[in-house]
Amino acid sequence: METKIFTIQDDKEDEKKIAEAAELIRSGGLVAMPTETVYGLAANGLDEEACRKIFAAKKRPPDNPLILHITEVEQIKDLIVDYTEKDLRLMEELWPGPMTLIYRKSERIPDAVTAGGDTVAVRIPSHRIARQFIEACGVPLAAPSANVSGRPSPTNARDVLQDMEGRIEGIIDGGDSSIGIESTVVDMTGKVPVILRPGFYTPEFLTHYMGEVRLDDAILDQDVAPRSPGQKYKHYAPKAELRVYVGERKALCTKLQEKVRQLQAQGMKVGVMTFSENMDFIEGDRKIAMGSFEDITQMGSRLFSAFRQMDAWGMDIILMEGVEDSGYGVSLMNRIKKASGGKIERIKG
Ligand code: TXA
Ligand code: MG
Repeated sequence: METKIFTIQDDKEDEKKIAEAAELIRSGGLVAMPTETVYGLAANGLDEEACRKIFAAKKRPPDNPLILHITEVEQIKDLIVDYTEKDLRLMEELWPGPMTLIYRKSERIPDAVTAGGDTVAVRIPSHRIARQFIEACGVPLAAPSANVSGRPSPTNARDVLQDMEGRIEGIIDGGDSSIGIESTVVDMTGKVPVILRPGFYTPEFLTHYMGEVRLDDAILDQDVAPRSPGQKYKHYAPKAELRVYVGERKALCTKLQEKVRQLQAQGMKVGVMTFSENMDFIEGDRKIAMGSFEDITQMGSRLFSAFRQMDAWGMDIILMEGVEDSGYGVSLMNRIKKASGGKIERIKG
């Protein structure tokens, strides 16, 4: 199949392109769309067969459920059953945005969306084009990240095409995703909300709106089995081996430089991903600046595309500077730990 690219150019053609892409969804096809977190691979979320195609295109394990994307809180009343007025108010406050909520599912939801389970994940994205597209489709869109399972999530149309060319009907190119890592997933089915996947909305931020919020134990302890199916797989990984270092700046630069030399002496091509402030102090075959350490959201927006870039350059190994496990750092390190298979070394200063 030919994958059609719909490039959004902020002109009067955009509406036609979005309408054409929506037609592909209504006829049961798959279209990748930009969101503020990462690109999603969308299908009609009420069409069992269309949702099954997502699993095939992504080679996704069948036990891993999908997120439904809508544009108005009102629409959730058809999709879930166990909400209260308080829940609806919370949704009005926190959506649209990079957060997914899990509730008990209604009868309308196909099994392919929930992987046979009795709960469903829902999100209202804030991305303008995503919202226009969902509205044009006129149905909730089931959309996981638009990568082949296990690979880094795509944050631009080029990265989607790399994984999905010939496997899906279309891609809406709406530029770079600003956040760059996936939404915070919160299980709302118990007494206390539980974060199953950390994201841009941190526990500290959510507590302000929700009161007590817990982090699933598996997020900080790699030996605990996660409650969210998607969290149990090795994930987000570049093809190159990834090793991560955390610690005091000066000692870390010295250590990284030493490692680069050792590995190069063994004939390896070594890529380095470090904060902008440290770029001049570490050599490497290729280097990518992860933004300033004073604003780690920049690291988030570059993380996945940097992994793919290192692979495109043919690096054998990537040495990367990590961050502390606090605040947004927990979310970034969650992705980085999974991508590296847990290879994190703490450098003592
Ligand atoms: O930011 C995002 O969430 C992006 C954009 C496209 O919206 N989507 C995304 O979808 O990251 P995906 O499928 O790559 O990740 C969904 C995560 C998985 O870890 C999955 O296991 C979990 O949400 N999930 C979905 N439904 C669930 C459910 N009913 N119970 C527990 N976990 C669920
Ligand atoms: Mg994913």
